[in-house]
Amino acid sequence: MNEYHAANKKRWNLAAPQYAEKHDKKGTWRIAHRQPQVVFREQELELMGPVRKRDVCVLGSGDNLAVFALVGMGARVTSVDISSQQLKVARQRSTELGLAVHYVEADVTDLSGLASAAFDLVYTGGHVGVWVSDLRAYYREAIRILRPGGLLLISEYHPFRRIWKDQATALEVGYSYFDNGPHEYNTGEPLDRSSGGVVQYEFHWTVSQYLNAVIEQGAELVKFAELGDAAEGWEYAPLAGLPQVLIIAGRKSP
Ligand SMILES: C[S@@+](CC[C@H](N)C(=O)[O-])C[C@H]1O[C@@H](n2cnc3c(N)ncnc32)[C@H](O)[C@@H]1O
Repeated sequence: MNEYHAANKKRWNLAAPQYAEKHDKKGTWRIAHRQPQVVFREQELELMGPVRKRDVCVLGSGDNLAVFALVGMGARVTSVDISSQQLKVARQRSTELGLAVHYVEADVTDLSGLASAAFDLVYTGGHVGVWVSDLRAYYREAIRILRPGGLLLISEYHPFRRIWKDQATALEVGYSYFDNGPHEYNTGEPLDRSSGGVVQYEFHWTVSQYLNAVIEQGAELVKFAELGDAAEGWEYAPLAGLPQVLIIAGRKSP
């Protein structure tokens, strides 16, 4: 694991209890397995098709809402995350809900613990790419673990939303769209903006880098879409009107 991912792993382990508390207040994790539409957009569900009795892997599973929704839809699901603490919270929740999930602690750029051609669907995104220093290695591994004909479905926070200064008054560019990083942040606590000793590294990939990383690693592009234009509650800059989500679906050659 490289130094960026090691720092990010530490950051996510520290942040896990705070995220758990936030999600407990929202409560979505309790209903995700019964109401997949609270987790996935209609277009994502259409692209996935029926997942009953299918082998599905979620990479960078985080809050595991996608995992719980997929289990509820009848899939056999493997949940992969770099953070043992994020996985610990998810494991407690799935036990409480009575959901069977296979949890694997791993870096998405090295899935050597998972067999090749083992999954029908790999789902990933919702702010995973931003933590990963090598997009090509990430998607290469995702495609390796897919069966021939299997689908890689990526649903990422749109890169156009990442370049702005944290100010509510007006949009002002804070980063070049083309500056991949690493962007180093040192915060007091994982989730606050004060300066301190928690180090984390973000990587800002462009739309074409996301797309090309999928195509170059051997998947045939099935769908590319940009969805939504609302402001999200946690965002500082006034981003309404910009695309929210980038959808890329690639199929491994049969
Ligand atoms: C913002 S969450 C995204 C997942 C989910 N959409 C969510 O909202 O919880 C980011 C997750 O990616 C994980 N992560 C970050 N870098 C990773 C890496 N290199 N390999 C595997 N997981 C990683 C973090 O531990 C965290 O749980």
